[in-house]
Amino acid sequence: MLEDLQWGAELVGGRSIRDGYRRGWGLEHGDLREKIAADPDFQSAAKLAEGRSVVGIDKLMNLFLLVKFFLPKLPFGHIMEFGSFRGGSAFFLASLAARFLPGARVYALDTFSGIPESDASVDAHGAGDFDNTDFDEIASSAKRFGLHNLRLVRGKFSDTAGTAIAEAGTLALVHIDCDTHESVKFAYQVSKRCLVHGGYFVFDDSIGSSCIGATQAVEQEVIQRDKRLSEQIFPHHVFRNQPSRPRRSIHPKVNTWNVVLAVSLTALICALVLVRMGWGAP
Ligand SMILES: C[S@@+](CC[C@H](N)C(=O)[O-])C[C@H]1O[C@@H](n2cnc3c(N)ncnc32)[C@H](O)[C@@H]1O
Repeated sequence: MLEDLQWGAELVGGRSIRDGYRRGWGLEHGDLREKIAADPDFQSAAKLAEGRSVVGIDKLMNLFLLVKFFLPKLPFGHIMEFGSFRGGSAFFLASLAARFLPGARVYALDTFSGIPESDASVDAHGAGDFDNTDFDEIASSAKRFGLHNLRLVRGKFSDTAGTAIAEAGTLALVHIDCDTHESVKFAYQVSKRCLVHGGYFVFDDSIGSSCIGATQAVEQEVIQRDKRLSEQIFPHHVFRNQPSRPRRSIHPKVNTWNVVLAVSLTALICALVLVRMGWGAP
C-alpha cells in the first residue's frame, strides 16, 4: 500500500535525500508505477488529463505522490503551474488538490496561444509552439469536471504572474513546464519568495533533450546562484525551499577576525599620521 510508506522525512541541507530516492528510484526501478496505477485517486485525476497533456506518465505519477503524500505535511500553500497548454497537468493537479489540500487553489498560467518568444541561441522551441490549444474549451471542460479550485490565468507570465502570486499569498508547489530559458528563469524567480518552508519546485523540462535553455536556467539560477541541490532528478528535477539562515556577516568573506584586524590597522595608521603631524607635542 502506498499509504504504508511513511513519506516526508526532515530536510537536511535543504532537501530530503531519502524522499527523493524513494520517489525517483521507486518509479524508475521499483514497484511504485504499479502501485500508483492501481490508486483510484490517481486514476480519476489521470482521466481528466487524458488527451490534453504532453506530460509523461512518470511525471504525472511523481506529481501525484507529491500532492497526495507530501504537500499535506507542509504549511498551507496553493499550487502554481507555469505552462498549462491544453490544461492537462493543471486538471490533474486540481483534481488531486480538491481531494487532499482543502482550500488550496491551482493557478494555471499560460498564454493559451503558444510560446510567446524564445532565444534561438539556447532554446530549441520557438514562438508559436503549443498554439494548438483552445482557451474556451479548457475553461468549459474545467467547469464540466467540477474543478472549482482551478484558476486559468491567461497571458504572458510577465503580465500575469505578479497578480496571481499576490492573490495566492503562499505556494506549496510550483510546477514549471514552460520550455524556454527566459520563461523558466522568470517563473522560478517570481515564485520563489512565496514558497512555504519545505515547498517544492518541480521543473518539467530541465533534464529533457529539447530544452537546454530550461537546463541553463536551473543550473544558473537554482543551483549556482541559490545553491540548491536536487532532491530528485527522475522523472524530473525537484528542489525544495529552505529559506537560508540569516547571514552572520555582511559578506561571506568578512568574519569577526577580519573586522578586528581592519579596525586595529586603521587605528594604527591614524596614530602614526597624528604623530607625524606633531599631535601631542608640547
Ligand atoms: C510544454 S507546454 C505545457 C504542457 C502542459 N503542462 C501539459 O500538461 O501538457 C509549455 C507551455 O508554456 C507556455 N509558455 C511558455 N512561455 C510562456 C510565457 N512566457 N508566458 C505564458 N505562457 C508561456 C506555452 O504557451 C505552452 O503552452
